[in-house]
Amino acid sequence: MIDDAIIIEEFKRLTLEILHHDGPRGILVGLVGELVDILENAADTQFEHPSDITEGKTSSRDGLAISPTQAAMCATEEQRTALFLRGLHDAITGALELKSSEPVRVLYAGSGPYATLATPLMTVFPPGKVQFTVLDIHPASIDSAKSVIGRLGLEQSVEEFVVGDACHYIIPREATPDVIVSETMSTALEKEPQVAIMRHLLSQAPEAVIVPESVKLDAFLVDTSNEPERIVPDCEGSANSSQPDRIPLGPVFELNASTIRSWDALSTERLPAAQIEVAHPLKPGYRPFIFTTITTYGKHVLGTHDCNLTGIREISGIDHLAPDSTLQFHYRLGPDPRLVAEATD
Ligand SMILES: C[S@@+](CC[C@H](N)C(=O)[O-])C[C@H]1O[C@@H](n2cnc3c(N)ncnc32)[C@H](O)[C@@H]1O
Repeated sequence: MIDDAIIIEEFKRLTLEILHHDGPRGILVGLVGELVDILENAADTQFEHPSDITEGKTSSRDGLAISPTQAAMCATEEQRTALFLRGLHDAITGALELKSSEPVRVLYAGSGPYATLATPLMTVFPPGKVQFTVLDIHPASIDSAKSVIGRLGLEQSVEEFVVGDACHYIIPREATPDVIVSETMSTALEKEPQVAIMRHLLSQAPEAVIVPESVKLDAFLVDTSNEPERIVPDCEGSANSSQPDRIPLGPVFELNASTIRSWDALSTERLPAAQIEVAHPLKPGYRPFIFTTITTYGKHVLGTHDCNLTGIREISGIDHLAPDSTLQFHYRLGPDPRLVAEATD
């Protein structure tokens, strides 16, 4: 355990500030940066600055598990980390209200080397109230998460550390989670196995609350020549910037508990998504894009450009949109999961 109790107290103080901060984003950058410094210093292994940050990644049949170094780097994305922490905090608080004697169980699938979304909350919820299972496919990440949690004196909050593939993990019957948290995704739910992981785990714990509660993909036509030169995150509001020229086409796909349940009977690699009519005539310069919105839980929402996961993605594979085209979407599971669009005239 770290001798200096002041560091542990500071870790808790930073966690509480991050949970409640409602001011300028610059302050949040500092708070999350300090929190991550403590996590890095507590870890046995340093994951900074290797020559190839992707070294150690795993390509599985359900998608890419990014390397421990890349997973460590996610922690400093302040808006992402803060909103996942706030969402998970509120999901656990809700689950606690439904529990009488037993602790709330949280299954954390894809912890990375610091268990960034759980370790801070272990300082807020005592071990008698909340127990975490910390799982990652990479042994180096679990070894590191163990060292961090041990050094911060929080090991009593962990029911089990698991090295394994979350898409094949069998949840022990006696440890059914009340909350499942996973951030195993990339922009527009591409490449990484978030959909497969949540589907597999929720099928074994149908009553569990999932964090993020929803990942929603919407299509827009975007006049790229009219987008602001500087990326303006939704969380900064549009008051100080000109409104970009975007035409909403409609919702395309959503990952949430109810859509996951609606796929129960499907055994193919193809999940249903919307069909969208593209109105004619299209003004020159407009191209179709997918926007991602993540509700971690309740009121905690990551909007466009708030973090890397909610950047915008051009819809690929469509060279020309003919007049009055229809775009038929589906979500393709497998080693390179992604939303796929097919144009029909
Ligand atoms: C984007 S990182 C997130 C790390 C950390 N949870 C955070 O939010 O900062 C995703 C993590 O999920 C892990 N992962 C990806 N696919 C996995 C799978 N199928 N089973 C278990 N872990 C997986 C990766 O190894 C990586 O550590």
